[in-house]
Amino acid sequence: MNENVMKCVNAIRQITEFKPKIALILGSGLGNVSSKIKVEQEISYHDIPGFPVSTAPGHKGSFIMGYIEGTPVICMNGRVHFYEGYSTEEVVLPVRVMHALGAEILFLTNAAGGTRSDYKPGDLVMITDHISLFVRNPLTGPNDNDEGVRFPDMSSVYDKDLQKILIDTASECGIELKTGVYVQLTGPSFETPAEIRMLKALGCDLVGMSTVMECIAARHMGMKVCGISLVSNLAAGISPRPLSSAEVEEAGKAAGSAMSKLIIDSVKKMS
Ligand code: HPA
Repeated sequence: MNENVMKCVNAIRQITEFKPKIALILGSGLGNVSSKIKVEQEISYHDIPGFPVSTAPGHKGSFIMGYIEGTPVICMNGRVHFYEGYSTEEVVLPVRVMHALGAEILFLTNAAGGTRSDYKPGDLVMITDHISLFVRNPLTGPNDNDEGVRFPDMSSVYDKDLQKILIDTASECGIELKTGVYVQLTGPSFETPAEIRMLKALGCDLVGMSTVMECIAARHMGMKVCGISLVSNLAAGISPRPLSSAEVEEAGKAAGSAMSKLIIDSVKKMS
């Protein structure tokens, strides 16, 4: 385990022995799932030495550890992004820490721009694959052979069994769940219409500034991964309006209850 991860884990283990099975990362405006957790322990990121703290709007800074209907989860109410100036290693440090605490599954959520004409703001989209564009791979540098192999396979990143659980749960709950390919760009500026046309041509359905790095680190360590994007807006040039972070947060709040029902009912089946 790398030294920075070990320091964080040691600090957390001074506070709690809680062992999560599922790690949940809640994206912009999507934090209300954490209110459905039977909380055992909440730890502010400020209390963990060297832990990166988010400066993004709509992101809080604490780990919530507890149970969703008996399943032990650790929930990140807020994540850090590359555009905040953190290194890729820092961006994925929380995932490495959650894995070291015991999490075997990483459930990612984010708010994203939609590039497809059959998406509308408020849609929930299950991520089936991803594209990493212009962002540094988080595994760059010496490889920690104890964590994973030098050249990890990425041919089936989003776990098929977890995808089936998401699809079945959405249908049981009467929630429409679309599918799509997510691309992570660096941000923080939103894309231009020309960039969106390029991304569409490359096969990107959802555009955002997170998730892929975390997912790569998780797969490196052998975690199973699934992810859901909330389409907070149609992407630049498709949307008639200029994009804003306020719109992204509003969409998160509006779709929050469907998103949290889907997450909670799915997590129960993942244990
Ligand atoms: N582009 C990039 N990131 C985003 C968007 C977008 O349109 N919406 C929410 N996050």
